[in-house]
Amino acid sequence: MTDSSAKKISLTGIKPTGSLHLGNYLGAIKPGVEMINSGDYDCFYFIADYHSLITVHDPKVLKEYSYEVAASWLALGLDPSKATLYRQSDIPEILELSWILNCFTVKGLMNRAHAYKAAVQENNEHERDPDHGVNMGLYSYPILMAADILFLKSNMVPVGADQLQHIEIARDIAQVFNHHYGEVFTLPEGVVHKEQAIVPGLDGRKMSKSYGNTIPLFLTEKKLKKTINKIVTDSTPPEEPKDPNDSLIFDIYKLFANADEIKELDAWYRKGIGWGEAKAELFKVVNRQLEAPREIYNELMSDKKKIDLILEEGAQKVRPRAQDFLNQVKQTVGIN
Ligand code: TRP
Repeated sequence: MTDSSAKKISLTGIKPTGSLHLGNYLGAIKPGVEMINSGDYDCFYFIADYHSLITVHDPKVLKEYSYEVAASWLALGLDPSKATLYRQSDIPEILELSWILNCFTVKGLMNRAHAYKAAVQENNEHERDPDHGVNMGLYSYPILMAADILFLKSNMVPVGADQLQHIEIARDIAQVFNHHYGEVFTLPEGVVHKEQAIVPGLDGRKMSKSYGNTIPLFLTEKKLKKTINKIVTDSTPPEEPKDPNDSLIFDIYKLFANADEIKELDAWYRKGIGWGEAKAELFKVVNRQLEAPREIYNELMSDKKKIDLILEEGAQKVRPRAQDFLNQVKQTVGIN
């Protein structure tokens, strides 16, 4: 028997800002579930609803997106008896810690954060005020994220490559604090799963909500087929041999098919395959993997009380730890 308290803590959050897609699955959820099932980590996965509030200002939509993220994790294999799933907003201690961290974060660090810089750059390109449309939530986004990570003494934070800067910022803030008060915070490490970078979207760019090129995870079969049919192809006639290594359809196919299937489709490409046929093959392997989860997902989404219960249990496990640690931090700074 291994001592569970000796396990490394793995923590990650997903922002509920829209339906999850194949990129989220391969880059975050699948490796996250594998980490749970390896038994090597104590895993904490949460719904970053306060982060979504930065951009989602429709209460019904925010609520629905939050359920979608929770149901997606559960449908795709997160077993709540093996890992903890919770809502960020159920742990108000995170916000208290966030304020404390604010007081140890130099403003310049936030000026350099990618998301803020991108907003400023876009404003400059449109010759608007540089801070047009930037609320303080967006500006201090990395501090809330640091609180998410630090309150649980997380060791590893599996994320997409675009989030690594945020982990570095969390480390920076923790180090400033530790330098002054002693070793209070555990320094987290970002972990990037290789697949994340290579899930292409319908147009060949990285699959991303902001590009509008995604294949959402839980469509009906009919809509999934329709979406796959939107993958951009050229006008090479069906009978002409095609290079599988220069094909978006094949790139995505490889992420879902087994070795034999990949070999067969490779040969079909070289013989000459119609794009319609290639897309039908892709649909088959993607749908095969999503069929069973889709059913669980739809069931959960039609019975949200079940989701609520799981999230409540998660919060009950996390909150005492948050309270203990926050007390320690408050004592450290002289507030209690
Ligand atoms: N910023 C992350 C994203 O957009 C979501 C997130 C919020 C997160 N808090 C976190 C991820 C803490 C890891 C750890 O993907």
